[in-house]
Amino acid sequence: SRTAAVIPAAGRGVRLGPGAPKALRTLNGTPMLIHAVRALAASRAVSLVVVVAPPDGAAEVKSLLDAHALPERTDFLVVPGGASRQESVRLGLDALPPGYDVVLVHDAARPLVPVDTVDAVIEAVRAGAKAVVPALPLADTVKEVEPARTPGEPEPVLATPERSRLRAVQTPQGFDRDTLLRAHETVTDNVTDDASMVEQLGEPVVVVPGHEEAFKVTRPLDLVLAEAVLARRRL
Ligand code: CTP
Ligand code: MG
Repeated sequence: SRTAAVIPAAGRGVRLGPGAPKALRTLNGTPMLIHAVRALAASRAVSLVVVVAPPDGAAEVKSLLDAHALPERTDFLVVPGGASRQESVRLGLDALPPGYDVVLVHDAARPLVPVDTVDAVIEAVRAGAKAVVPALPLADTVKEVEPARTPGEPEPVLATPERSRLRAVQTPQGFDRDTLLRAHETVTDNVTDDASMVEQLGEPVVVVPGHEEAFKVTRPLDLVLAEAVLARRRL
């Protein structure tokens, strides 16, 4: 069994505020994307990493990967991304050579995922699951609302789903390759993760324990947290 990882890194990072594309912003001096690639390549099972670069940044990403030490057992490919995360992942999958039966999809914006989480996802796919997502219980209570038509207006609450049944989903998400390719060929709705496309095919998706350090760097405070986690690791 051979495992490849696709890393969508083509987003601008609007919620992080002005600056370079999010994946190229640095954490303690090293680009977030390099942290993310190292986190996936740390798994001995991962033999290929496909980085989906900002549409006009493929050359820059290639030279970054060349400049940073990465394990010798891991091959790399860089392809330019698209306008949505979904399109970027599909462009990464299009570049995947044959011979990989397990495919991980991992956000460049989750640079600190521990290798044990990566390995647990791969292990669950190897054990027969078609789609595996790492996830954590929620700290906050979640409400479904009627979204305001005017921003800032109070929003009526429609329902409060039982918190103990909810999970916050992370990456890497792991897939049987053929199932993921079929999902990306079939599902055209806008989705925020890859597993939900597999759900729409009617295929089962399972959850394994995620990790606090696999959080997504989304807003400015997340940069502070990420740099503190790295400092604690002495990186
Ligand atoms: N992504 C991508 N191509 C896009 C949009 C997003 O490859 N067109 C990637 C991002 O680079 C990121 C991952 O998808 O690694 C998760 O997306 P998100 O955290 O939403 O990143 P951005 O879309 O860049 O951020 P924002 O939504 O704040 O603009
Ligand atoms: Mg986004």
